[in-house]
Amino acid sequence: MESLKGKHIVLGITGGIAAYKSAILLRLLIKRGAEVQVVMTPAAKEFITPVTLSALSGKPVVSEFFTANTGEWHSHVDLGLWADLMVVAPATASTLGKMANGIADNMLVTTYLSAKEHVMVAPAMDLDMYASPSTRRNLATLASDGVEIIEAAEGELASHLVGKGRMAEPEEIVERVERFFLRRNDMSGMKVAITVGPTYEKIDPVRFVGNYSSGKMGFALAEECASRGAEVTAVAGPVSYYPSNPSIKIVKVESAREMNDEALKAFGSADVGIFAAAVADYRPEEYCDHKIKREGSEEMTLRLVKNPDIALNVANNKKNGQTLVGFALETNDAVVNAEKKLEKKNLDMIVLNSLEDKGAGFRTDTNKVTLISRNGDEKRFPLKSKREVACDIIDEIMELRKNNS
Ligand code: C5P
Repeated sequence: MESLKGKHIVLGITGGIAAYKSAILLRLLIKRGAEVQVVMTPAAKEFITPVTLSALSGKPVVSEFFTANTGEWHSHVDLGLWADLMVVAPATASTLGKMANGIADNMLVTTYLSAKEHVMVAPAMDLDMYASPSTRRNLATLASDGVEIIEAAEGELASHLVGKGRMAEPEEIVERVERFFLRRNDMSGMKVAITVGPTYEKIDPVRFVGNYSSGKMGFALAEECASRGAEVTAVAGPVSYYPSNPSIKIVKVESAREMNDEALKAFGSADVGIFAAAVADYRPEEYCDHKIKREGSEEMTLRLVKNPDIALNVANNKKNGQTLVGFALETNDAVVNAEKKLEKKNLDMIVLNSLEDKGAGFRTDTNKVTLISRNGDEKRFPLKSKREVACDIIDEIMELRKNNS
């Protein structure tokens, strides 16, 4: 039932009788696992109290630009960036007009103007207002701006007149919300290849050069893509757990050279390729086929030679329409270095994580990333679980593919 798990929804409520139905809508969204932030216009508070809505959403309702007693500023820009979707229900004629014309005199309209993602409106008003040329014009403008209109239904209205103007039922609005995320998320028919985990470079039969990568981020990405219907191949170095999802084919490798060979096979037919592995940059020049003894030697020199750059090798054979994404773990000049890597490795996007961020990087269950795209877009995300980070990364990849198609 948790079809909206992890989704961030701004629910905008305006001042109409149908505002009482927003509480039911809010409850349905929360029940499906969405995180909902309610933004009300001042007039909406005449119809339903913020107390009801904050109790249902578990978050204080936002309505004013400032909290009167503390002067705390509520950032509509942050809210706009946070939201995966904004739903205005009910949307009055006045709010539709303000949205269509950019009249940003309340928190709801400013949030709408800052919203980066999809916006839906569910109008509710008297039949004559709904049919009026001004409302029709505003709805047409909003539709051409990309806003999804959930048309009002026919029925008895607050005025006791019968006609078109009733807000769509909360169940119908929720269905539209679910359909939007399915549509946006759908990866069925797509092939995804991912490199995962560390590589081990053998020194002798019992020792190796390796790193602390756990494979958690790579497998979170694999799980996310599989849950969206993609066929996934994970070329994975030695890790302590492997997912059991039947849509994830696992090719187990140990060294960077093995990973390189298998990746070249798996990435060839992939629509999306993600390099999440922490590949050892160097390997011992020679492998000793028996255990190296320490007796008689005070020092030991290990000569290392360079490993293949898997991302670069795959990108050199990049197919038309393929999206390639790499990771970068930087300690200094992070963004500049990541941008250089984008160019050098012919990638479409880099996921930047910094070892300096607490809870980010190797062996943790959380990560904090910045997504840097070839088109110059840079999106910073807060600390989240690796699965949620995977969701953000895949959303962004799908967005890039939509814009490039
Ligand atoms: O150059 P750097 O190691 O920082 O690049 C990181 C990106 O390149 C990661 O996506 C990593 O998986 C990939 N990579 C690779 N093969 C290497 C080194 C890095 O695929 N030998």
